[in-house]
Amino acid sequence: MQRCFALLPAFLTLARDHGAPALDLVELGPAAGLNLLWDRYAYRYRAGRWGSSELLLHGVEYEPVPLEVLARRVEVRRRLGIDLNPVDVTTVEGARLLRAFIWPGRVERAQRLRQAIGILWAEPPTLVRGDYVELLPSVLAERDDEAIGWALRQHARTDPAWVRAFVAVHGDQLSGLSRREALKHLSPA
Ligand SMILES: C[S@@+](CC[C@H](N)C(=O)[O-])C[C@H]1O[C@@H](n2cnc3c(N)ncnc32)[C@H](O)[C@@H]1O
Repeated sequence: MQRCFALLPAFLTLARDHGAPALDLVELGPAAGLNLLWDRYAYRYRAGRWGSSELLLHGVEYEPVPLEVLARRVEVRRRLGIDLNPVDVTTVEGARLLRAFIWPGRVERAQRLRQAIGILWAEPPTLVRGDYVELLPSVLAERDDEAIGWALRQHARTDPAWVRAFVAVHGDQLSGLSRREALKHLSPA
């Protein structure tokens, strides 16, 4: 879950840029789902702190995180992960398996994991077993129209051809609004 230190500024920036008061999270390959709980952890950056939690994440900032980003609060509306082999850390076996991946002597890391597992127990994310390549379209289709439109619009920045092909195949299952959002920044093929 240490990687949440890098993810938090990205989530906050995304929420700010889209004026989104809430996020609907889907993680591909979440294992135990500890990254899906990023808003339950506290963070310390050079400019300031974010969140309140017994688990405080800190690290190296290659680019300083602006205070204005850290001032943002965002609600997480849903947390869902799709994994071929989800790890259920609410069981003794699952928690032990995850602990076994930590090298002996990494005391701080083991402590962070213990704390994160305690936080997860309070509100476990939904973990679906399966191949995300197969399950993602149906998971996204369950979400409201605006959510899938925004996801496609965002993904079009990195893979415009994939988004065009997705809309060509699944476009009739999308609302007009979602189709428009998906293709918003793409020039006509
Ligand atoms: C290295 S773990 C990453 C765990 C977590 N995302 C993290 O950042 O700590 C990769 C996970 O992806 C899952 N995975 C790989 N390919 C997958 C697929 N096609 N569908 C679903 N899960 C997959 C594996 O089962 C594994 O749990």
